[in-house]
Amino acid sequence: MKNMKVFITRKIPQDGIDILKKEKLEIEIFPYDRPPTKEEIIRGVKDANALISLLTDKIDREVIDSAPELKVIGNYAVGYNNIDVEYTKKKGIVVVNTPGVLTDATADLTFALLLSAARRVVEGDKFMREGKFKGWAPMLLLGKDIWGATIGIIGAGRIGQAVAQRAKGFHMKILYYSRRRKIDFERETDAKFVSLETLLKEADFITIHTPLTKETYHLLGEREFRMMKEGAILINTSRGEVVDENAMLKALKSGKLFAAGLDVFHGEPHVNPELFELTNVVLTPHIGSATETTRRKMAMMVCSDVLRVLCGEEPENRVV
Ligand code: NAP
Ligand code: GLV
Ligand code: GLV
Repeated sequence: MKNMKVFITRKIPQDGIDILKKEKLEIEIFPYDRPPTKEEIIRGVKDANALISLLTDKIDREVIDSAPELKVIGNYAVGYNNIDVEYTKKKGIVVVNTPGVLTDATADLTFALLLSAARRVVEGDKFMREGKFKGWAPMLLLGKDIWGATIGIIGAGRIGQAVAQRAKGFHMKILYYSRRRKIDFERETDAKFVSLETLLKEADFITIHTPLTKETYHLLGEREFRMMKEGAILINTSRGEVVDENAMLKALKSGKLFAAGLDVFHGEPHVNPELFELTNVVLTPHIGSATETTRRKMAMMVCSDVLRVLCGEEPENRVV
C-alpha cells in the first residue's frame, strides 16, 4: 500500500476515512465544501491509484485519461450514471458503488414526498407561517387519499421494492413495471406486473426507481403524461433526466397531475425556475440517502471496497 494515493472529491463521513487511514496510504481530500471543477478533479487524480467520487462529479474520458495509475473508482452513491463505465471497463479500471445501505432511507423519503404531495403538507405549512389560518374549514387544502389508492412503481429494484413494502402498510394496490418480473416480490407485496402503459393509466401515484441509462432517459414524456389518470401524483427520487421536465411542467399546470414530489432534477444542480412558481410541487434537494446512519454506512462501504481493490482482492460491490 505504500506510495498509493486515494483522492476523495469531498469530505465524506469520518468512519470511512478512518478505514483508509489504517493503511499506509496517501489520502487527499478536496478541501472545499463544493463540488470540484473538472480541472480540480484532474489535478487530484493525475497521480492517484484510487478515486472516491460523488454523483455530482462527472467522470468522463478526459478525467479517466488524465489518471494513468488509476485502479479503482468508488462512487459514494448507488447510481453511477456520472461515470463513463464503458470506458473504465475498456481501461480495466474497477468501479464500485454503495447499493443496499441507502435503500430504506431513500424509500422513506419517497414516501415522505408522496404523503406531502397528496396531503399538501408544504402548502399547509406555508399557509400557517403566513398567518392565514382562521380555523378549521370544510374546503381548506383538500388533497388525495393515500389509504387504498393504487401506486405504480417504475423500476422494481431495491428501492422500488422497499417503497412497495411501505405502500402495503397503507393498504395500497401495487402495480409495477420493470424489465423483469419478480415472483418473490409479488408474493410478499401482492404487487402486479403490468406494462408501462397499464401502470400509467391505472395508478393514482406513480413513483420512479430506475437508474438513469440510455433506455430510461425521458422514459416519461408527453405521450406518457397523456396516458396518466387525471389528477395523478408523480414522485421522482431516481434521476431528473428520467422525466421530460417540460412535459411534466405542462401536466402540473394543466391539472393533469394533481401534484409532484421531486428529490431529483434535470441537469442538477440547476433547477428549472418554473418549478418554484408552482404550489403543487414538493421539492427536496437530492436528500434520498441523507440520514446520519446511512451516510456513515455508505462511507464505510465505499472505502472498504476501494481498499479491497487496492489490495488485489475482489470488491463486494463491483459495478463493472
Ligand atoms: P436497483 O436495485 O438496480 O433497481 C433499479 C431497477 O430499475 C432494476 O431492478 C431494474 O429492473 C429497473 N430498470 C432498469 N432499467 C430499466 C428500464 N429500462 N425499464 C424499466 N425498469 C428498469 O437500484 P436501486 O438501488 O433501487 O436504485 C435505483 C436508483 O435510484 C439509482 O440508480 C439512483 O439513480 C436512484 N437513487 C436516488 C437516491 C436519492 O438520493 N434520491 C438515492 C439512492 C438511489 P430489473 O430488475 O427488472 O432489471
Ligand atoms: C443517490 O442519488 C444515489 O444514487 O446514491
Ligand atoms: C377534525 O379535526 C375532526 O374532528 O373531524
